[in-house]
Formats: sequence, structure tokens, C-alpha cells
Amino acid sequence: MTQNNRGGFNSRFGMMMAVAGSAVGLGNIWRFPFLAGEHGGAAFIIIYIAMIFLVGLPILLSEFGMGKSSKGGVVSAFARLAPVGNSPKSKTSRAVWGKAGYISFTTGLLLMGIYLVISGWTLNLLVDSIASGGEQHSVAQITENFNAFTSSGWQPTLYGIGFVVVCALIVGRGVEKGVEKWSKFLMPALFLFILFLCGYSTTLGGWDAAVDFLFRPDWSEVTAKTILDALGQVFFTLSVGMGILITYGSYGQRKENLFRSKVTVTAIDTSVAVLAGLMIFPAVFTFEGLTPTQGPELVFITMPSIFGQLSFGWILSIFFSAVLILAALTSAISIFEMLTTVFIEQFRMSRRRAVIVLSVVLSILALCCANWQSVFNLFDYLTSNILMVLSGLSVALFTGYVMDKKVLRATFTNGGENSVGVYRIYIFLVRYVAPVAITFILLSQLGFI
Ligand code: PHE
Repeated sequence: MTQNNRGGFNSRFGMMMAVAGSAVGLGNIWRFPFLAGEHGGAAFIIIYIAMIFLVGLPILLSEFGMGKSSKGGVVSAFARLAPVGNSPKSKTSRAVWGKAGYISFTTGLLLMGIYLVISGWTLNLLVDSIASGGEQHSVAQITENFNAFTSSGWQPTLYGIGFVVVCALIVGRGVEKGVEKWSKFLMPALFLFILFLCGYSTTLGGWDAAVDFLFRPDWSEVTAKTILDALGQVFFTLSVGMGILITYGSYGQRKENLFRSKVTVTAIDTSVAVLAGLMIFPAVFTFEGLTPTQGPELVFITMPSIFGQLSFGWILSIFFSAVLILAALTSAISIFEMLTTVFIEQFRMSRRRAVIVLSVVLSILALCCANWQSVFNLFDYLTSNILMVLSGLSVALFTGYVMDKKVLRATFTNGGENSVGVYRIYIFLVRYVAPVAITFILLSQLGFI
């Protein structure tokens, strides 16, 4: 397949929905609201937004810029943009950077194993919600059912493989007819469902307490750890550090104002995260004895135990599961597309064959993660603590120090049409601020600070 006939996004809106789809995931729903509430409400949100501008957005722009100017997936982007020339320095640089994309590729592959299993849990939640008929269950009962489900191994495996099949059907259709078409439909649906659930939340007794928890600024809660947590969340939620945005950038066919469109994406992502807090916490605060939590416990145990006690709880539980599924699906699709593009380009496969081979590989990974907790934990540790951060660092260093600045600048400014001032700030951040911040995240994840 040549560089020119690889297809791509057909509209700016479609591309934006696909990028936002990748960014908006389970992290927005089960992690951001809790982090914000625990770390000083509005104080945290302000720090979080600062981290987006100082670190998240620059890396996002770097990834996109690399994709746009190389017209290649994550592995070929690094290889094509590495220095040319025959001096020993260029040759060494080319040899090293030419392979750097494999860090991102590996990160995506392993993370997908975990993400598929968790996505499978969300499918199971929907099935359980429908089957429950709105009947009330105790926390103990729900915990027992959930543990029985996750430890059965074969059930999460089957649901995980179900997710692989859905991703394969969408990605197999190509970027325009698959990823773009579906993102344009799934993302607005997700947004509407969240708004609907938030609307319902305003009627609950716990609304004021939730608003207070999420937004009341409390600067005394802010420590160095808060900043690192905000940074980690920014990284994860924007889906940087995996080459997904390089891939999506490479499929962008239209001219666009890179800065403006990516600010819009981060705004969508942050709004969904805040709305998720308003969707979940009023219900939690409505009942005595329940406290906000995060992660699987919040969405698979606390929330299901609440729905049975709310009016229209059955319908709400179905909508809530749908929100989780949609958030997980659009993120999973983006990893799937990144991996598929690497298979097409590096292993010279047709899209169809790449998708089939990948589906088999991913089903095996999901099976391993669903059946062996140690594999799940290992993948989780490697991806979130080491690989994702390393991959983000490689992008920052590559665009900041290695890649030809003329090419980067031309991509960023659309050949001089857009402001050079914004480009200069971006380059400063990506050279000096982002690498330092990312190194801090790495040290903190590894327990050194
Ligand atoms: N951004 C997603 C979230 O917030 C997670 C994700 C990370 C998805 C990396 C794809 C790739 O949940």
C-alpha cells in the first residue's frame, strides 16, 4: 500500500469525534471525578487544566504533527521523520529513532489486553442491568456476583472477545467508513446519555453535596502529589503516549488549525470528565453510608447498588451501562486502529488481513488477562507506569530535538497560514517543560518520589 491511497478522515468533525472518542474513556468517568473531589475540588481542576496546557496539549500536538507530516502510523512516522544524511551521527540517530515507534506499539498492544477485559465487564453490566428488571440488590450481593463473574475467567474472556469482534468490524471498514462514521454517531450518543443522566441527578437530594465535593476549592488539599496525579491523569485521559494520535493525524486529509482543533478536543474531554462527576456523585451522596470511590468498585459495585433504590432505576442503570460501553468502545477502537495501521505498514498486510490477525492476537491477550490476574497486573504495571510515559517522552524529545523544525513548523502553521507565535510557545513547552514533567511522572510512578 502506498502512502497516497491509504484513505483517511473525510471531515473535520468526523476526525474530531474520533480523537475525542479516544480521549473520552473510562478514565474520565471513574477516575477524574474522584481525583477532583479528593484533591481540593476546583483547586484540582485549575491545576489539571494548567497541566493540560503545559504538558498534555504539547504532546498531543507533537503526536498529531508527526502523523500529519509523515502520513504514517506510529512506527513509520518515527522512521520517516528521523534525520536523513550519511554522517555517522545521522545514521546512529536514524537507527535509534527508526525503532522508537515500537515502544508506543507495544504499549498499545498490552494496554488493549487490559482494556478489552474491562470493556467486557461493562458489557456484562449492561446484560445484568437488563436482566435485573430494576430489582434491588445489596452491596454484599453485588460484590459477590461481580467477584464470581471476574474470577470465572471464561465469562470475561467471552465478553472481551465480543468487544474485539465489534472493534474489528468497525476498523475493518477503513478509517472513513468505519472509525469516522461510527465515531460521528457514538460520541454524540455518549454525550446525550451523560446529559440525560446529569439532568436526572439534579433531582436528587445529594446534588448539593456532590457539587460541593467536586467544585469547592480547597487549596490546603493541594500538594506535590496532587500535581503529579493531575499530570498522570492528563496523560492517560488524552490518550497520549501510544501513537494513537500519530495514527489519527496521519489520516487527516484536510487542512486544519492544529492548535484550535486540539484545544477543542481537550475541552470536550474535560467537560465529559466534569459531567461524569455530576452524573455519578449526586446519587452516591443521596444515600447514607456511601462514600465516593473510584475505579471498578465505583462503577461495578457502588453504582449498581444505588440504582435499585432510585425511581426509574432500571432505565437509569441501562443508560449508565451504555455510557460506559460507549466510552470504552471508542477508546478501544482507537487503539485497534493504531495497531492495525502498524500491521498494514510494517508487516505489509491488507487492512482486512491485518484486522483478522490482530483480532486473533488480541483475543489471546484478553484471554490471558481475564484468566490470570498476574498477567493483568503485569500489563497494567508496565503500561501505566513505564511504557506509556516512555513513549510520551520519546515523542517530546523527538519533536523537540530531533525532527526537522521546518517540517514541524510548516505542519503546525499550515504552511505559514496560522500564527507562528503559538508554534513558538509549543516548541518551548515540548523542549523544556514536557520532558521534565514526564520524567517526574516516571519517577513518581516508579516510587522514587
Ligand atoms: N483516554 C482513555 C480514558 O480516559 C484511555 C485510553 C488511553 C484510551 C490510551 C486509549 C489509549 O479512559
